[in-house]
Amino acid sequence: MDKGIFINNEWSDYDLEKVKVVNPATGDLVGTVPKGGKKEAKMAIDAAHDAFPSWSNLTAYDRAAYLEKLHDLMHEHEDELAKLMTEEMGKPLKESKGEVQYAASFLKWFAEEGKRIYGRTIPSSKENKRMQVIKQPVGVVGAITPWNFPAAMITRKLGPALAAGCTFVVKPPNETPLTAVRLVELCQEAGIPKGVVNLVSGKSSEIGEELLSNPKVRKVTFTGSTEVGKLLMKQGAEQVKNMSLELGGHAPIVVLDDADIKYAAQQTVASKFRNGGQTCICGNRIYVQEKIYDEFIEEVVAVTEKLKVGNGFEDDTDIGPMINKDAYEKVEKHVQNAIKQGAKCVVGGKGQEAENGTYFYEPTVLIDVEPSMLIMNEETFGPVAPIQKVKTDEEAVKYANMTPYGLAAYVFSEHYSRGLKVVEALDYGIVGWNDGVPSAAQAPFGGMKQSGLGREGGIEGIEEYLETKYISIGLKE
Ligand code: SIN
Repeated sequence: MDKGIFINNEWSDYDLEKVKVVNPATGDLVGTVPKGGKKEAKMAIDAAHDAFPSWSNLTAYDRAAYLEKLHDLMHEHEDELAKLMTEEMGKPLKESKGEVQYAASFLKWFAEEGKRIYGRTIPSSKENKRMQVIKQPVGVVGAITPWNFPAAMITRKLGPALAAGCTFVVKPPNETPLTAVRLVELCQEAGIPKGVVNLVSGKSSEIGEELLSNPKVRKVTFTGSTEVGKLLMKQGAEQVKNMSLELGGHAPIVVLDDADIKYAAQQTVASKFRNGGQTCICGNRIYVQEKIYDEFIEEVVAVTEKLKVGNGFEDDTDIGPMINKDAYEKVEKHVQNAIKQGAKCVVGGKGQEAENGTYFYEPTVLIDVEPSMLIMNEETFGPVAPIQKVKTDEEAVKYANMTPYGLAAYVFSEHYSRGLKVVEALDYGIVGWNDGVPSAAQAPFGGMKQSGLGREGGIEGIEEYLETKYISIGLKE
């Protein structure tokens, strides 16, 4: 039996058709999962709904113990989980290992944070009244997760949801459902009671529609493109569904002329090429002040030239394959459009479509890029660093904010007041100031404008799974 559907503590493939999971570096078949749909999603929601009263009535300490156990199991199985991720998603093994640790850190953080879900009392303006505010779990949560971080984007939702007392139905992406299967097996091994965590692999649109239209689901949390996020919002509007959306980004990197150039270049490369550029918060466009433009490019080129593209299982690989043909074609389109309009390619610039149907793209640096080029206006989601020269701090901020997205931005500046002014002027939910990789379980992650709604991680992350109830108590004479 192929695992992929887990409902009420039981795996079944319900004799369904299969989704093939392919290694994007080799084209080899890695495994198959059942193609679940509306019916299986409904069953999973019913199971989560039935499990909600007993799970939400456990103490936060009891729920934390399950999450701690799951956290420990993830660490025990770190090598195996990492290998699976590299197999189905392609990222270099060292990055996969980093992701397992990152993913597990959400369980640990939220196990603790669940113990600090405080309400409050409010001084009443009337002698015969008392006022209280309590926090309660929202109920059944539907989670739709992406392929680029197959483990962390599940635990970043699962950790706070379970800690808050919610039960969970997750729809993993069809590119990387096997990591989700393994995580759910570990939930089982951790002894998480039946119906609390459910998994439905298969048809994204059918499962998504059920999660959004079923009134038993009280919250939907999604990580993916802005395009799909908008669709989900429309579907959820009918029931005014509570939603958290972590959507597209188009992160600017602003390098001021007082930056530590060598350090800024290293951090820029770390941000840009993390996960082969297939990360929502990857730097996507780089604005550098004219005084340091040439020197900064020299440093970025030197670091980028050392990066090696290849199969994630090879020890020296820094950049794995593109996830699929569409992703590859988008990168190619952005690079060609920029070159055609006058940008110079100083590193890389070529992709490779292998015979086995896999796609690799060289780490690429484009310079003398102009604001009108496609790459400065759309998220590339690939290993290309376009660099534009700017004059003033104000000009850099103007270009950085000239986008409907507002997820992450980066600033490199050694001067406190100057750097802070730029940081404060940026319309972004996350700003890395002299930091190319700001994500952490204890910090809020999420975007402004069309990059989404809500935050994951940090104390904000658990609020997303809580309702606020105000209780007004009348005292009788
Ligand atoms: C994402 O790409 O959505 C997640 C990146 C991160 O958590 O740093």
